[in-house]
Amino acid sequence: MASLHQVLPAAAPSSSSLRSSSSTATRPVVFAKPSHFLTHAKRNHHRRLISCSSSSSNEGSKVDRRNMLLGLGGMYGAANLLSTPDSASANPIQAPQIDKCGNSTYDTSAGVATQINCCPPFTGTIIDYKLPNFPKTKVRPSAHRLSPEYLFKFNTAVDRMRRLPKDDPRSFMQQANIHCAYCNGGYDQPGQGTLDLQVHNGWLFFPFHRWYLYFYERILGKLIGDPTFALPFWNWDNPKGMTIPPAFIDPKSALYDAKRNPDNMPPAVVDLGFTGSTDPLQVVSNNLTIMYTEMVRGNSDVYDFMGKAYREGTPVNPGPGSSERGSHTAIHAFVGDYKNQPAGEDMGNFYSAGRDPLFYSHHSNVDRMWTLWQFFLPSNKIPDKKITDPDFLNTAFLFYDENAQLVRVTVKDCLDNLKMGFEYERVDLPWLDYRPPAQAASAKVTRAGKTTVKVEDTVFPIVLDKIVRVLLPKTKKGKADELLVIENIVVDTSKFLKFDVFVNDEDDNVAEIDKASYAGTYAQIPHKTKEKTATTSIRLKLTDVYEDMDVTDDDTILVTLVPRHEGPGVTIGGIKIIENPTPAPAAAAAAPAS
Ligand code: C2O
Repeated sequence: MASLHQVLPAAAPSSSSLRSSSSTATRPVVFAKPSHFLTHAKRNHHRRLISCSSSSSNEGSKVDRRNMLLGLGGMYGAANLLSTPDSASANPIQAPQIDKCGNSTYDTSAGVATQINCCPPFTGTIIDYKLPNFPKTKVRPSAHRLSPEYLFKFNTAVDRMRRLPKDDPRSFMQQANIHCAYCNGGYDQPGQGTLDLQVHNGWLFFPFHRWYLYFYERILGKLIGDPTFALPFWNWDNPKGMTIPPAFIDPKSALYDAKRNPDNMPPAVVDLGFTGSTDPLQVVSNNLTIMYTEMVRGNSDVYDFMGKAYREGTPVNPGPGSSERGSHTAIHAFVGDYKNQPAGEDMGNFYSAGRDPLFYSHHSNVDRMWTLWQFFLPSNKIPDKKITDPDFLNTAFLFYDENAQLVRVTVKDCLDNLKMGFEYERVDLPWLDYRPPAQAASAKVTRAGKTTVKVEDTVFPIVLDKIVRVLLPKTKKGKADELLVIENIVVDTSKFLKFDVFVNDEDDNVAEIDKASYAGTYAQIPHKTKEKTATTSIRLKLTDVYEDMDVTDDDTILVTLVPRHEGPGVTIGGIKIIENPTPAPAAAAAAPAS
């Protein structure tokens, strides 16, 4: 081990890294490009010209009245169903009781409920974890750009992890089972009877996985005697990283997993949209639009991005954030195999996802998205990027550290990656400016008396097993800062499910997501706990969609829901439009007029 450490060069890539050369890492300057804002200014100007020439004052009222009423019926129907206010304060979720860990559950695709024991060994003593001081910040590298030396180290570390005794909590299978126990019903919420503990589909998503990777990475580093070892990230948000990283596909490597979808091996392009498009250029363009929407355009507050409040007593799935239900879910489903491995093993089901070494590099990039959102994205778009709720900050998890010591960690200690001693190699963010072009003409779908789009007689709740269209009233006519709320979404927790949401989409070309009418996505990976179903909701910010679709002068919009899975599994309880309760601060310095 010592010789390995001496022979191999330091882990960190040097030239393209954000790492500061001093011992104390500092945040790099936010790189919102001025051109980004100039583009907005130009587009606004252009849009105004179009809207002057195309709208007369009456057109907005020529909506088919019958459809309009159906839309309203849906809205009122939804309002009657229960909804939990976000502000109800309770207590943070306590660390699970390992000694009471029970079986985890998953369904085969034939619907057969299956039990599996994913519980860790229990050694008795739990220590409250203190973050060490890091003399140097580790830089997690892009998995597509690993040097042969780095790959050798990585492979050696995972190989050694696989060879640890089965009951060593640091062994590969025990590490994989952490995910299974925390995500498929191995634990109950302490003090809450048999209510399941579930770290997905809410605000614990990012913190839980950050701590999980933190210890996984330290264990790997310890196994090769290199505390500077940093876990590579799968850069699936950049076209250069939109295949399964080659490092993971050699069957002789410790990084290989036989249970992956054979159709999606390189050079198959990662498909974040699941549209069924076979045109790789279309798929890449869809991917960048999805990234832009979930990172920039679709969120009105921190919960829209992070996920909704999940405290003591909250049932599973309060509401996943945009990144979790978007790109994160898509990669799981892309790598997992629903055809040959019935439940989606390995990556396509939470109980088995951790058995694929690729899982940890996938989540390294998911974690990178969190750091980008926190520290890099233009802050005039989102009013508040921090959750200060003590129920969030004081949530606790248990992990085994690199010395096989059981430790208790809290969310508040993982909010800053630099304090945890790591950051990410800097790579381009091609999605940052990937705002779809304005699509003003489509606005006519809600204006023309004889519209070409057929609106169904929608009565909620609806089973979403086909495309559904609903007409909805805006809260007010004119420029509006509004959110689309899709609520009482009842999901079958044992299935992969996904639907996309479009506004005033005229052509319904379901293979294209890269258009201004795309508002966002709901999706989930099978994550069965005790309950067969969960009830959840999402919010999609519409402000930029309105702008790009020239909807400002309308009083009604057409919402289209496009399912990307087969058969039933999702029921929608209601859809409504609300005014944005937390509007973004006015852009401090408006872009120059010319
Ligand atoms: Cu815990 Cu990507 O899932």
